[in-house]
Amino acid sequence: MFEYILLLILLIFILFIVISSLKVGISPMPTSKPSQKIILEYLQNSSNNTIIDLGSGFGTLAIHLAVNFPNKKIIGYEVSIIPFYISVILKYILRVKNVHFYKKDFLKQNLKDCDLVCYLYPNGMKKLENKLFKETINTTIVSNTFSFRNIKEKEVLNDTSILKNPIFIYKT
Ligand SMILES: C[S@@+](CC[C@H](N)C(=O)[O-])C[C@H]1O[C@@H](n2cnc3c(N)ncnc32)[C@H](O)[C@@H]1O
Repeated sequence: MFEYILLLILLIFILFIVISSLKVGISPMPTSKPSQKIILEYLQNSSNNTIIDLGSGFGTLAIHLAVNFPNKKIIGYEVSIIPFYISVILKYILRVKNVHFYKKDFLKQNLKDCDLVCYLYPNGMKKLENKLFKETINTTIVSNTFSFRNIKEKEVLNDTSILKNPIFIYKT
């Protein structure tokens, strides 16, 4: 009986994630380890004290950055409820103090004076691009896999996986 209840709870969680992913336009799929490594190496040279993960999913990338940059503040904005709560639970289990997760739409937040990382989808990149044009945010943006349509990248890095996943670097 207990197993059936657990299975039911798991199915409800999965259903919530699927519905939310369909609504938002992207699933909470985490950035791969090879891509995390490239993002981390790139941000090492930045003098900004805050990094924002735009759509932090389960929080794995934000937590990885927080552990490796103990003197920086890492913020994760996430709209999907289950991934958001999992990221909060992970933060407390792993006792990472310099990462903060908020269940908020990053398009409505102040993104100035921070480095931005994202792993979105074409329409998400379009919305972010519009926000950057409207608010003239001078910053570095590190985008996993997806590029902007109108802003030209400063460079493209490739991770070490077989797929050589592109990481687009922007300075706006
Ligand atoms: C592919 S996941 C990336 C997770 C994490 N950033 C990583 O790289 O491991 C993208 C996440 O962005 C979230 N998302 C998309 N648009 C958003 C928005 N406007 N505000 C907050 N979160 C958003 C989705 O719910 C999804 O969980």
